[in-house]
Amino acid sequence: MRRLRKIAEVVAVPVDASTTAYNTLWQLRADTWSSLEESAGQLVSASAGQRPFEQLAETVTGLLNTLGPIERLWAFPGTPAVQKLRRLLTAGNYGRFARLVSEIDRALATGSYRGRQTLDTGTDDEAVDRLLSPAEQAGTDRPYFEVLIVEDMTEQQERLLREEMRRWRRPDDPFIYEIVVLPSFDDAVMAARLNFRLQAVVVRRRFTHRSRHDSSSLAQFVYSGGTADLMQRSPNERAQILARSLARIRPELDLYLMTPISVEDLAGRLSHHYRRIFHIREGSLELHLSILDGVSARYRAPFFAALRSYSHRPTGAFHALPISHGNSIVQSNWIKDMVEFYGLDIFLAETSATCGGLDSLLEPTGPLRESQQLAARTFGARQTYFVTNGTSTANKIVVQALVQPGDIVLVDRNCHQSHHYGLMLAGAMVCYLDAYPLNQYSMYGAVPLAEIKRQLLALRRAGKLDRVKMLLLTNCTFDGIVYDVGRVMEECLAIKPDLVFLWDEAWFAFARFHPVYRPRTAMRAARTLAEKLRSPEYRDRYDAQVSDVGPVDAADDDVLLDRRLTADPARARVRVYSTQSTHKTLTSLRQGSMIHVWDQDFTQKVEETFHEAYMTHTSTSPNYQILASLDLGRRQAALEGFELVVKQIENAMRLRDAVDHHPLLRKYMRCLTTADLIPAGYRPAGIDQPLRSGLPNMIKAWEADEFVLDPSRVTIYIGATGIDADAFKRSHLMDRYGVQINKTSRNTVLFMTTIGTTRSSVAYLIEVLVTMARNLEAQLADMSLTERAGYEHAVRRLTAPSAPLPDFSGFHASFTDGNGLDTPEGDVRRAFYLAYNDAYCEYLMPEEVEQRMANGEQVVSTTYVTPYPPGYPVLVPGQLFSPQILAFMRSLDTPEVHGYRPDLGYRVYTGKALEIAATAYPAPPPAQAAPGAVPG
Ligand SMILES: Cc1ncc(COP(=O)(O)O)c(C=O)c1O
Repeated sequence: MRRLRKIAEVVAVPVDASTTAYNTLWQLRADTWSSLEESAGQLVSASAGQRPFEQLAETVTGLLNTLGPIERLWAFPGTPAVQKLRRLLTAGNYGRFARLVSEIDRALATGSYRGRQTLDTGTDDEAVDRLLSPAEQAGTDRPYFEVLIVEDMTEQQERLLREEMRRWRRPDDPFIYEIVVLPSFDDAVMAARLNFRLQAVVVRRRFTHRSRHDSSSLAQFVYSGGTADLMQRSPNERAQILARSLARIRPELDLYLMTPISVEDLAGRLSHHYRRIFHIREGSLELHLSILDGVSARYRAPFFAALRSYSHRPTGAFHALPISHGNSIVQSNWIKDMVEFYGLDIFLAETSATCGGLDSLLEPTGPLRESQQLAARTFGARQTYFVTNGTSTANKIVVQALVQPGDIVLVDRNCHQSHHYGLMLAGAMVCYLDAYPLNQYSMYGAVPLAEIKRQLLALRRAGKLDRVKMLLLTNCTFDGIVYDVGRVMEECLAIKPDLVFLWDEAWFAFARFHPVYRPRTAMRAARTLAEKLRSPEYRDRYDAQVSDVGPVDAADDDVLLDRRLTADPARARVRVYSTQSTHKTLTSLRQGSMIHVWDQDFTQKVEETFHEAYMTHTSTSPNYQILASLDLGRRQAALEGFELVVKQIENAMRLRDAVDHHPLLRKYMRCLTTADLIPAGYRPAGIDQPLRSGLPNMIKAWEADEFVLDPSRVTIYIGATGIDADAFKRSHLMDRYGVQINKTSRNTVLFMTTIGTTRSSVAYLIEVLVTMARNLEAQLADMSLTERAGYEHAVRRLTAPSAPLPDFSGFHASFTDGNGLDTPEGDVRRAFYLAYNDAYCEYLMPEEVEQRMANGEQVVSTTYVTPYPPGYPVLVPGQLFSPQILAFMRSLDTPEVHGYRPDLGYRVYTGKALEIAATAYPAPPPAQAAPGAVPG
């Protein structure tokens, strides 16, 4: 609470327990312990007659009441601690009470409780003494986790079980764990949602449905759904249902079943969610070893381990790597500071060896291959590939692996530049899709499903559906708009059953580790869709659709646009790729990315071309440090991804609250909400601020809405400051306060929270924003009338909607396949390379472009023209200029426009070039420049 108070002082926001509304339970727990420590200290003084005693006793009891239901779900300090505290309080032993609270709070804050005894044995006094003993306070360095046992048992049985499990501990165990016992299905679900230290769950046969404890304060976290008749089911079925519910929340948990009936019969029949089944009478050693083994399997980091052990071996390096083992540095006169700064280990690990325990990235057969397999398991993919040059390269690899020249690819025009270049290199016929615009904020949202279906159906009408290969979308977008991935794929497959999907998840690797986000990730959606397509219920749905509208192939476009489509389970293939910048949202060195594959046809149709594409774009000297960091980043995500993402979201919500509730900040800034960024038509659940109105609302919206907003990305609207966002970012946030952000639009700044965001960094940002607002207030107070008018003008300019964001205008006919049918795809590669011949290009200032268009001429860009912000190409090679594009460009006040030279203007094709392009590839360049051409 002290830390939180500090934030609260800065931001002047009242802090209360209502923060649980959107899952800030972790913060509530930490803050309540801190508060209890503070009050307990005061209680000691009060008992000496210095403070109003009753009031403090009441506060302390209230805080213990808050902690009771929460601590039940944790092994440390757990229920025994709360009980002991209650007894000390009742006995008036305030000194011991305060010392115990203080030690628990310290242990929780520093993590030093790991490996300690829980407080369930001995008298209350013994427990306090033990906790305060130096040996106990030192804790242990071994990783610590908790294991949930689901069984309705007495306190006595629980204590015996705990002691029995502890008896198997050995000093050389790699980890240490404690157990937490809960009696019911609901308790288990709640613990899975809230106790992020859990790594394993042991389900025993006797558990009830509802919790017998009053957990109403945590009710929103139960949300297990569809289990009303649980107690009418057989014990096996109950165990299955519980396993499914737990796996949905935390697929990484190792589940074990202990049963009194014949395990041989059960094995093979029970859900694959159970890692192992044990007979209850066989004792707990096997269980103990399995628990450690399960966690070890996720803890393994084979490539990191191999690199580390290699780096400590003496070698004679006779290959081209002078920095290897630090050789070129440690003996240097001039660059010794390199070792001082980086440390020696990073150079000891510099190698390009592919043997001696290491492996080759291009043909992995050893530890690297195993690391990639572990990553595939963690991210729910069938195959995973590491990439050492970022998602920019990952995207090009996937596109090249799947797309042949002439294949049609549908792609969001706002996608990252790597797709534009990748599609160009691959020779794809690119069909750009327009996302819905957000003119008020000069941003785009995402591409509506109706737009995707409309384009697919137009291509069908033109007889080109067989050439359509891939749909490529960004999920989530830079601004945090998230697609309903499963629904998009399902409806597209209804029209084109072998369509391949590439989901650019550069910003979304973390999403796998939160139960609400996970269904909207490419890998999970692919698996769910494949399961759905196999189910009899789905076949029935498809049959019903056929009897309703006939086969999709023959149905009318309007009918198909109007209804939710079901794919033909006999024809649809699930072919899904995702690219993730691990380095953007999880732990990895810069440029560490992964490609995840869930493609039913991968081994038959793609593996070889994938390999070629991988070789095309991958360095033969990949950076091993990046690879090792990907391996460790995966380990971390597999073991603590859930905890980190939950905390990340809690921090983001804190930031939102602080900005929106602060009386001064509110005057100048506002966090954009789901309702601001996603038009109501795409949100059938009709919830304007899903997470803010409670976790169940977030779940509802994420299940139903076409688009949802990732709450961890906080876009702040700053129109009322009169400062444009670029200046806000550079001159204020970065230069003055060292706050880094990476995206702005005209009047918004995006603050990304990540797993590295801390509460202190949130507090610092708020402090900075408040200082900026105060300075602005002071300036406003001192302004002359003229200055005031200037400020008001700036505010009006920033708060008025921008010129409408231009739709894709179309390719010049020379770069289409020229069959006269009205589909928009174009050959960007041809348009791109034609411009390599300067003689075909000229520069035109914007007025000249306008003039030519007014004369009825078509003006065609030779290149990508990309203003930053917004950062997507307003023109691509071969694209026609339009009045809307010029108006938009004129309205921009961004200094940085790639592809446009202020001194020369736009680079466009000459009429002659377009004539040549209309026939085929250009003839060899003419010896002399064509008349009228301006050298580039
Ligand atoms: C949507 C998207 N895809 C891909 C990339 C490229 O990722 P990387 O920086 O890992 O090369 C980015 C980078 O910002 C991006 O925003």
